[in-house]
Amino acid sequence: MKVVVISGGASPEHEVSLASGRGIADAATILGHDVVPLVIDAEGNWQDGQHEAIALMQDADVVVPALHGEGGEDGIIQGFLQQLAIRYVGSGVAASAVGLDKHLTKAVLKAHGIRVTPGMTLRSEELRDAEFAVQQLKAAGLDFPVFVKPGSGGSSFGVTRATDPPSLATALAEAVALDPNVLVEQEMCGREIDLAVMEFPDGRIEVAPALEIHPDPDQPFFNATAKYDNAATRFVVPAPLESTLADRLRRTAVEVFETLGCSGLARVDFFVPADGEPVVNEINTFPGFTPTSQFPRMWAAAGLSYTDVVQNLLETAVR
Ligand code: DAL
Ligand code: MG
Repeated sequence: MKVVVISGGASPEHEVSLASGRGIADAATILGHDVVPLVIDAEGNWQDGQHEAIALMQDADVVVPALHGEGGEDGIIQGFLQQLAIRYVGSGVAASAVGLDKHLTKAVLKAHGIRVTPGMTLRSEELRDAEFAVQQLKAAGLDFPVFVKPGSGGSSFGVTRATDPPSLATALAEAVALDPNVLVEQEMCGREIDLAVMEFPDGRIEVAPALEIHPDPDQPFFNATAKYDNAATRFVVPAPLESTLADRLRRTAVEVFETLGCSGLARVDFFVPADGEPVVNEINTFPGFTPTSQFPRMWAAAGLSYTDVVQNLLETAVR
């Protein structure tokens, strides 16, 4: 197949996306496909110009939008490809848009009876002062410590743990610099478990063995440093799970995938607090895809190599 792999993009996850794109392009080349890498620079411009990019994509059998975060994982590139009648890997416009927006994800999942992290959304105009934010927090039934996150985006950029009003004020300022909507969520104590969901060419949706994250104990949580710069973070696959919990996680991951109308692939991230009832933290409709990322590692535990996963995603997209 002629395969175009797009990476980069104007999101804080630009570098991660370049690494994901490189991994996928290398795998597709090994598989014998005719691969063209296309890069969107950090300002959001196609590196070789938009006309050239469109011509190359229209000539391809399938495009892989290996983009994370705004402008790539949020439905924008998916809508662009759709308008050009180009086939692509992964979720469509609506699932991508909802999946990258943490507030919308939670609203939709909650409406379907799926347990999500308790939290509230503050809009930039509501971020008048920390005292007001503390009042809102109490009114929503939340208490310190809380996590403050930009309403969209990934890789934990702009995410801070706040333990008191002054740290809340700093955290809100940091998050609002990345997104006018800010999420304040209750800290969840418990296990952190990721599930990889993938669609196959025959329409089957499968879930790989779960992965458990053991963040570096020296980091305050599984933040961007722990994710990318830190050898002390450990992933355990398959996560040691009692079979009822493993089933529960698997079923919920598929339910999340289907409720949001996802296609192709997704990684659903959970917390499992002391009561043993899984809580959905978030979904990634184009999860990190470097050879050492969680998604391919989980599939490796199911017996599918990185190249097998790439081949499956390409075949599913063109079926
Ligand atoms: N958003 C990052 C790339 C992840 O899902 O791993
Ligand atoms: Mg994410």
